[in-house]
Amino acid sequence: MIQYKGIVLAAGSASRLFPTTLAVNKQLLPIYDKPMIFYSLSTLMIADIRKILIIVRNKDKKSFFELLGNGEDLGLEISYAIQKKPSGIADAFNIGKNFIKRDNVALVLGDNVFYGPSFSKVLSNAKKRQTGATIFSFPVKDPKRFGVLEIGKNNKVISIVEKPNNPKSNLIATGLYFYDNKVIDIVKKLKPSKRGELEITDVNIKYLNENKLFVEHLGREFSWLDTGTSETLLAANNFVNLTQRRQGSQIACIEEIALKKKWIVKKILRIV
Ligand code: DAU
Repeated sequence: MIQYKGIVLAAGSASRLFPTTLAVNKQLLPIYDKPMIFYSLSTLMIADIRKILIIVRNKDKKSFFELLGNGEDLGLEISYAIQKKPSGIADAFNIGKNFIKRDNVALVLGDNVFYGPSFSKVLSNAKKRQTGATIFSFPVKDPKRFGVLEIGKNNKVISIVEKPNNPKSNLIATGLYFYDNKVIDIVKKLKPSKRGELEITDVNIKYLNENKLFVEHLGREFSWLDTGTSETLLAANNFVNLTQRRQGSQIACIEEIALKKKWIVKKILRIV
């Protein structure tokens, strides 16, 4: 089976959270009881991806390294790369090409929280596809802020449009993407959009045009949150607090995931 590597994109200027993020990187801020990046890292771990590249800004590298090191405490191999300026989500594949080498790759945005039933199953469906791209849809009330999907018969993606004024549906593409190795070439040839960014939606359109864009639906029983604004960050904090207190279990406890997967043994757990 083709190997998947993972990338967490945790750079960006997070200007919508200024002044909070002027001095501190957004992905280091807490969502309730743990740093934001733990949530996206846990998504890759649940997908059984252990070789992970974290893309950060130069000035944040030291802090991320202090938090996660080389990943060995979690049974992971974590390396770091720098994004010099926020030139778009798809830029992750230019930055990460020497890390990806000939493998397939999953990209998760550092500000996305995924939590819900059958998540491992959904992720393994995506991993089983050796070629093409898989995106993960979720229904939202305010689709205009996202990449919006139009789905036809037999679950075929008909269109995907970034932040449309007139969304074709309430289904959006969440910040998690599984690609075959062709993504490196696609991004190499990609032109920046009007706002000067290499758009992940343009990458997905390339796959769509080749009939190679697949979608997994997370469904309404699932919870997906992004944390781009103060409002959505507060909602994510409240969600994790409430869910953990009610269920008595942890969301995105990366140590627990590593332990359950037998990637680490109890005695190396860092107890604080
Ligand atoms: O969250 C899902 C949405 O994420 C998708 O529906 C959209 O299609 C996709 O374009 C993206 O939209 P956003 O407007 O939320 O992207 P944003 O620019 O806020 O970046 C999301 C994360 O990626 C954020 O944590 C910072 C990081 N990032 C972003 C850019 C543009 C980087 O690390 N570097 C970058 O250059």
